[in-house]
Amino acid sequence: GDMHFPTNWSTGGISPDPRVNVHRIKRMKAREDDILICAFPKAGTHWTWEITHMLLNEKAEYAKKGKETAMLEFHIPDEFDDWPSPRVLNTHYELHNIPREMIDKKCKIIYIQRNPKDVAVSLYHFEKSFAGEDYVRSWDDFVHTFLHDVHTYNNYFTCALSWEHALKNNPDLNVLSLYYEDLKEDPIREITKIARFLNVSYTEEFIAEIAEKCSFKAMKAGDKEVRRHELQNWANYFPDENFTPEESIDRMSNTFFRKGDVGDWKNWFTVVQDEMFDAVYEEKMKDSKLKFRFNL
Ligand code: A3P
Repeated sequence: GDMHFPTNWSTGGISPDPRVNVHRIKRMKAREDDILICAFPKAGTHWTWEITHMLLNEKAEYAKKGKETAMLEFHIPDEFDDWPSPRVLNTHYELHNIPREMIDKKCKIIYIQRNPKDVAVSLYHFEKSFAGEDYVRSWDDFVHTFLHDVHTYNNYFTCALSWEHALKNNPDLNVLSLYYEDLKEDPIREITKIARFLNVSYTEEFIAEIAEKCSFKAMKAGDKEVRRHELQNWANYFPDENFTPEESIDRMSNTFFRKGDVGDWKNWFTVVQDEMFDAVYEEKMKDSKLKFRFNL
């Protein structure tokens, strides 16, 4: 069946449906210095966005309201026209759906991946928390859907394979490939990688400052401060009668920043679910060279 997330995305009138919007986004005008962060939902998109933005901005300060959540698929291209260069844009689209001009102009792309068991856990909680009291799906049902069906507008395996294929067949693409687990393991090392890829000047102190500001705890608190109003709007779109206004803001903050750990899947998968996941993974990814460190 179809997905539950985001609960009333296409009827809520907050933004275009990503499946329809793709046709507009593909034709979007790009600037040579645009930077695009690409990831499957819950792989660390916004984390990478914030780091990239700080590096380019030469300041370890959280972005003002709205920018890092402004993903291509949920906006019409015109909305990005007045963004100053260099723009750091965000998307969960696969490579063949991103603006053609970004490929033609060899724009820098940062592609971030995360082990899919943690992605599944993260996505489940995201859906559940977003939808509030209307959410009825069980974790077990969710695991089946994740393995066999389509989430939002893509399926994990289709997406991972299509990226792998695209990167292998387009060596000219200007892509930096990152992993959530690596960022957690050594943020300084990974942020330095991003700085070099972006060709920005940096000092060790600056990188350390970004690592600190973009730690899960600090970023969650900072985000709540700068995006208070936006979090309130989200809460209004997806109301839950059980929460006071202040609790609603917290609920949304907890939706976007849940736990930020590697290996949380071990707290959720039963042995049966884990074996089923491994079997499907092995089958669908049999031609893939991806090797996630599931046991971290
Ligand atoms: P969890 O649900 O496991 O906590 P995306 O931005 O791609 O939707 O990814 C969201 C996931 O990244 C969530 O995972 C979220 O908590 C986590 N995340 C957000 N900011 C983070 C940070 N600064 N450090 C580590 N994880 C972060």
